Amino acid sequence: MLYQLSYVGIDLKKPAWNRGAKYTEPGSPGKACYAANMTTVSLFPTRIYCAGLPVRGLRAFNNQLLRECKQLQADDIAGQRWSKKNYPGGYTSYNSACRMHTLSPTFALLERKLNRHVQRFADALQLDLENRQLVMTDCWVNIMPHSVVHGLHLHPLSTISGTYYVQTPRGCSSLKFEDPRLDRFMAAPPRRSDCDPENKAWYHLPAEVGKLVMFESWLRHEVQPNPTKSERVSISFNYSWF
Ligand SMILES: [Fe+2]
Repeated sequence: MLYQLSYVGIDLKKPAWNRGAKYTEPGSPGKACYAANMTTVSLFPTRIYCAGLPVRGLRAFNNQLLRECKQLQADDIAGQRWSKKNYPGGYTSYNSACRMHTLSPTFALLERKLNRHVQRFADALQLDLENRQLVMTDCWVNIMPHSVVHGLHLHPLSTISGTYYVQTPRGCSSLKFEDPRLDRFMAAPPRRSDCDPENKAWYHLPAEVGKLVMFESWLRHEVQPNPTKSERVSISFNYSWF
């Protein structure tokens, strides 16, 4: 499924005067007209890719991933030290074991499962890769116990980034995206609380076990404090253009 926070809602192949809303002229019931100058065009979309891995064998695969995430947390002294300073209360292997797909066959299998989704997303974005490849460069573990935050950030020097959810206790924090144009809104009024998703300045995508979410690496995102008593466990990754 492809979420499109902004989208082109009209047929650009039609002439401009014929793209507007259809309405019935007063006094002429049944006579359809097209209103000129009533067109809005949505440009510069921000696309979010969401998918589930195939259900068959998924539970066993997730259990194995979870075991390895917890084992890594227990063994990774450098990661524990870094997390204590930079990820208070939680654990991430972002700065220690950040290429897990090269260290673990289970993570390497995850990489193979993700590759076709990355290609689909690149196709949806209509990227011209010029015969080059999108390749996984980083893959790391995030474990968020109760109240732990994953601060607002982007993924520098990457093309496509994403997260795969290994354990998502009911009610755990969503993935929150920020409108990349936010710093340009200046005197723009806020949007109505009931506005459509594509008009929101922030968008919350629920975290669901067995699902993956991908976005272009420049898109800022965060995870707000985990309100549940259980650990929220995810695997994040970057793909770069080589
Ligand atoms: Fe991230």
